[in-house]
Amino acid sequence: MTRARNFSAGPAALPLSALEKARDELLDFHGSGMSVMEQSHRGAVYEHVHEEATALVRELLAVPDDYAILFLQGGASQQFAQVPMNLLGPGKRGDYVINGVWGEKALAEATASAKVLGGEVREVASTRDGKTYRRVPRQDEIASTAGAAYVHFTSNETIHGVQFAAEPGGVYPDFGDTPVVCDMSSDFMWRPIDVSRFDLVYAGAQKNLGPSGVVLVLVKKSLMDRMRPDLPAIFRYKTHADAASLYNTPPSFGVYLVRNVLLWIKEQGGLAAIEQTNREKAQRLYATIDAHPELYTCPVEHGSRSRMNVVFTLPDEAMEKRLLARAKEARIIGLAGHRSVGGLRASLYNAVSLEWVDALTSLLEDFARAG
Ligand SMILES: Cc1ncc(COP(=O)(O)O)c(C=O)c1O
Repeated sequence: MTRARNFSAGPAALPLSALEKARDELLDFHGSGMSVMEQSHRGAVYEHVHEEATALVRELLAVPDDYAILFLQGGASQQFAQVPMNLLGPGKRGDYVINGVWGEKALAEATASAKVLGGEVREVASTRDGKTYRRVPRQDEIASTAGAAYVHFTSNETIHGVQFAAEPGGVYPDFGDTPVVCDMSSDFMWRPIDVSRFDLVYAGAQKNLGPSGVVLVLVKKSLMDRMRPDLPAIFRYKTHADAASLYNTPPSFGVYLVRNVLLWIKEQGGLAAIEQTNREKAQRLYATIDAHPELYTCPVEHGSRSRMNVVFTLPDEAMEKRLLARAKEARIIGLAGHRSVGGLRASLYNAVSLEWVDALTSLLEDFARAG
């Protein structure tokens, strides 16, 4: 088998060793005579996997003890609604920083939630530029969030390739005392973060962490204490935190695969080590794009250029199609931009190797030379 060099934005490439482990353990998980997905989620065999996955998240990200780590379902899109459902109510306000369409969608769901459950929703910054987004807002462009129940932002906008704190040592906006909620779906577990700067973080697993069907949520216990207690139990974060994400049947095979990916991250030397490789990958690809300005254009401003999703265009669609066809011949796939914006996009999540990036940059060089 020749593995495809998969640059998809998600579901995305997974580390080969995590998949091989799943293959080897598939039919008979640890001598149980069953696969992990056939185990009761109340049984010791699955519980061990679940606890190991949780412990690995805590260890790799240095998650403080006063944060719950949850494995939920419904995708990051469900979090767009679940966050305001838990945090809004009469007299409460949610503030939204918008630097791409995922943030727009989060704002729309919060608006719908506020209509039903009470409360108010505000846009406190937007960097929309015509039909697209090219940068994150500067601190002085974000209206004060004082008095808000929370402020929500998207740390990496997957479609536009726009990222906060993209440069080494880069900082997130300062929201003062306002509780901070962050959609980190395409920005999670590729570098260390200071979790204590956030009150709630969520991320769909299907980028850096595992298969779709699992959403990882980190939530500070003091924020949970302020959430509304009158929602149906299944939508309350506290329900899941109190039950260690075993309130109802969890996405057990997905959590198992997340555990395999986390073990692989640990074997690579953890997040600090993996960050270096990820930065090198992005540096090589952006350097190639910038070396051929007559052919390749990255529409994103320098300080906001995502290290996870590298977006670029060619002079016309016909050329983009030709490049995509050439890529396919080289078993390089997943380069088409999101259907809403077109162009090209190479996602450089953890499982994308430096060798794959070198194959891609060689292809871009050849195409620039010979067309
Ligand atoms: C930043 C971001 N937020 C939210 C989502 C929506 O995730 P899901 O499809 O898991 O609901 C995506 C999907 O790509 C994303 O990239």
